[in-house]
Amino acid sequence: MCGIIGYTGPLMAKEILLEGLAQLEYRGYDSAGIALLADEGGAALNAGGAASTFSADSGVWPAALSGAGAMTAAEALGDTAHPTATGVRRRPTASHAGPSPITVIKKTGKVKGLRAYCGSLPVDGHCGIGHTRWATHGGVTDANAHPHQAGEITLIHNGIIENYQELIDTFHLQGKLLSQTDTEVAAWVLDALVREEVGDIAKAIARLLALIRGSYGFCILYASRPGEIYAVRNVSPLVASYTPSGALVASDLTAIIPYSRSYFVVPENALVRLTPYRIDVTGPEGDPITPEMLEVNWNVDAAMKNGYPHYMLKEIHEQPRAMENTILPRLDKGLPDFAQDGIPDAVFTGCERIHIIACGTAMHAGMVARSMYEPLLRIPVAVWVASEFRYEDPLVDGGTLAIVISQSGETIDTLAAMRLASEKGAATLSIVNVKGSTIARESDYAFYTHAGPEIAVASTKAYSVQLAALYLIGCRAAMLRGKYTPEEAKVFVTNLLDAIPAMEMMMGQKERIRGLTSHLIHEKDAFFIGRGLDYALSLEGALKLKEISYIHAEAHAAGELKHGTIALIAPLVPVVAIATQEHVFAKMISNIREVKARDAFVILVSKLSAPVGDGVANVRLSIPDLPDAFCVFPVVVFLQLLAYYAAVGKNLNVDQPRNLAKSVTVE
Ligand code: M6R
Repeated sequence: MCGIIGYTGPLMAKEILLEGLAQLEYRGYDSAGIALLADEGGAALNAGGAASTFSADSGVWPAALSGAGAMTAAEALGDTAHPTATGVRRRPTASHAGPSPITVIKKTGKVKGLRAYCGSLPVDGHCGIGHTRWATHGGVTDANAHPHQAGEITLIHNGIIENYQELIDTFHLQGKLLSQTDTEVAAWVLDALVREEVGDIAKAIARLLALIRGSYGFCILYASRPGEIYAVRNVSPLVASYTPSGALVASDLTAIIPYSRSYFVVPENALVRLTPYRIDVTGPEGDPITPEMLEVNWNVDAAMKNGYPHYMLKEIHEQPRAMENTILPRLDKGLPDFAQDGIPDAVFTGCERIHIIACGTAMHAGMVARSMYEPLLRIPVAVWVASEFRYEDPLVDGGTLAIVISQSGETIDTLAAMRLASEKGAATLSIVNVKGSTIARESDYAFYTHAGPEIAVASTKAYSVQLAALYLIGCRAAMLRGKYTPEEAKVFVTNLLDAIPAMEMMMGQKERIRGLTSHLIHEKDAFFIGRGLDYALSLEGALKLKEISYIHAEAHAAGELKHGTIALIAPLVPVVAIATQEHVFAKMISNIREVKARDAFVILVSKLSAPVGDGVANVRLSIPDLPDAFCVFPVVVFLQLLAYYAAVGKNLNVDQPRNLAKSVTVE
């Protein structure tokens, strides 16, 4: 939900910001903008301050990046020991008078459009901020795009300011605002506060944060402090890195990784000051903070399309490796072991009830787990849509284990539900893909999936690895609770690993799956049906199809269709029937016959050896004969490819479907 980037350093900022925004665009893509601090040459700025310092080695800047050949940081910056002596100041720093040295360029539409527009403008500088938006307050207009400016303040924001109306009243902002956004309100309030604080921007920001209710990641330029970017966050993600090419801050690593593999997560409620020389981090009282430095565990290629036409197709193909990366490091003599994750056995032996909490695709993974856990572990297991969990007064106590699933680790509904579960005494175990994300850090135990960055808005590989994680957890819990002998657990793990080549086999059928969409794309509605685990999968199949192909899709427990929805089945309406569960196979075939009798166009997915009679389906796809619980893995690949080729067939923007954003940091 909105992508943020800030850069200050020896390189020209415009290209860095535009490149970063292109990487972050999946977070929001209805408008984009940058703000550049004009300068007349090299950076020569005050690098004072009493906080912790993170500076790069006095290394050599990559020639390709600097465009100036190989030079040391000191050469390119001028004499860093006497920064004001040899560099050229951009603007007076103490009291900026006259027109703002900060140029804002913003536009509705994609980053590509912004880039084309910027190209014609002779503006650049060594310091700037950029934003790609997913509209919350105010429609998609140029005026509502970020950055927003008020007096000497220019800022970008990811999140929601809940009490913006109150702030408008308190600070008498009526008539001043040029946009309908909550963000512009923050800019005006900060401008007023910095004047009250006679230019002490740190104090003014601290006062702003004390006034705001809501979530935020802000990057702020203050015209009187050229070359500096101030970054703060609450819930909304921000990472920062000091690199040989300058200092960067961004909503996520994809924008930073071309410059550095080491980074830190901006601590909540800390103030981060980026200068060309260093990054200072201070706490609310101005006390220096030393954040934990992290290393990226994937390389820049992982965030590129690498020859695939879309990220989604690439990520579908990455699933087998992602599964291995998630499973293999957690096996000890063929059995699941979470010592490296620091998850004690008592988490599983001590619990009397499990709540699985998540949103969207992650919640669908939870539904698969629920179907498996309750019969296996013989304790109550509930799955919750996170946004409902908070308001339903669920039964949670010290005997509850809350398993929280989130690819991004920043989904606000999931985070809020997890906090509630924790408050009520539950132990919290998160299954998260993004390292250092808020949900991972705030949970009692984090189980990282190792899928690498997922860029397409439609989640694919994240789902498979969430399932893999949930399966490993279920297996270990069953062992520890005496439901599985070690031998049975070993067989379970072997079956899980066997599901990986089965996924690859499904990818081998992609041309056939593409062929199926020639009918599908001309239909307005589609239905997905299944029983048990197949019903949970149906939900995911329907979500995938609707979110990227805009075909209305519904999933139903197959036995439920006749209680109403079958009224919608008319000739040639596509029904995707998933029938991999042997104990309900015959029932499932009866349900399929019910829709076939109404001339639906049935696409059946079942095991190779399943006894499917003549005339049951228009098209049949087979998966290898895996044990029932493991069929989800190849079947989901089919569902993903079906949705993908439907969207491609309709010539839609597969990776950035309308109205959506990759991570949802608003309630
Ligand atoms: O990052 P999270 O896993 O918490 O995100 C949850 C959902 O927003 C996400 O799975 C969403 O449903 C996907 N766009 C579905 O493809």
